[in-house]
Amino acid sequence: MSEAERGRLEVLLSEAEIRDRVAAMGLEIGQIYGSEPLTVVGVLNGSFIFMADLVRQVSSPVRCDFLGLSSYGSATESSGVVAITKDLGSSIEGQHVLVVEDIIDTGLTMKYLLENLRTRHPASVRVASLLSKPARRQVETQIDFLGFTIEDRFVVGYGLDYAGLYRNLPYIGVLAPPRTQS
Ligand code: IMP
Ligand code: MG
Repeated sequence: MSEAERGRLEVLLSEAEIRDRVAAMGLEIGQIYGSEPLTVVGVLNGSFIFMADLVRQVSSPVRCDFLGLSSYGSATESSGVVAITKDLGSSIEGQHVLVVEDIIDTGLTMKYLLENLRTRHPASVRVASLLSKPARRQVETQIDFLGFTIEDRFVVGYGLDYAGLYRNLPYIGVLAPPRTQS
């Protein structure tokens, strides 16, 4: 990343804050499921880093699968029209499913996803999201395990992108608009 880009990023959640919160979430998830196996379904692409860290903190037996979703809209606005770009690798029928998402914003993506997963007859479905922006909610959404509630700002890093970039930042930052020359 260039110096100019780095200067546009304000740290919202540090690497250490994220690590501590993810560890607590993993502990809580392990306590809920106990020795019952669960299938963790990561929503691609945004959840891959969070999911990798989270599952390593869960003591229950875990299967991992992924679902690719793309939501049509601009780079920062979801339209609620969602397409499955990669389906699950195997059936979730009769399994305890934990959906792992990077952020719940309008809630439209999660609503679509949960409706879709329920048609596959899992034993249960719970949702873990690293972030939530309740100010932006358009539909009520189930969130069973939440990392952080944040204000209505567009964030990047730790899996979250802007135009495909910044997913590899180890922290979560707010991208400020580019400065205009004066
Ligand atoms: P929703 O359907 O509006 O809840 O949008 C959920 C999806 O929009 C998330 O899975 C992200 O991919 C994307 N998204 C929403 N807010 C942000 C943000 O602040 N930064 C990066 N991606 C976001
Ligand atoms: Mg996403």
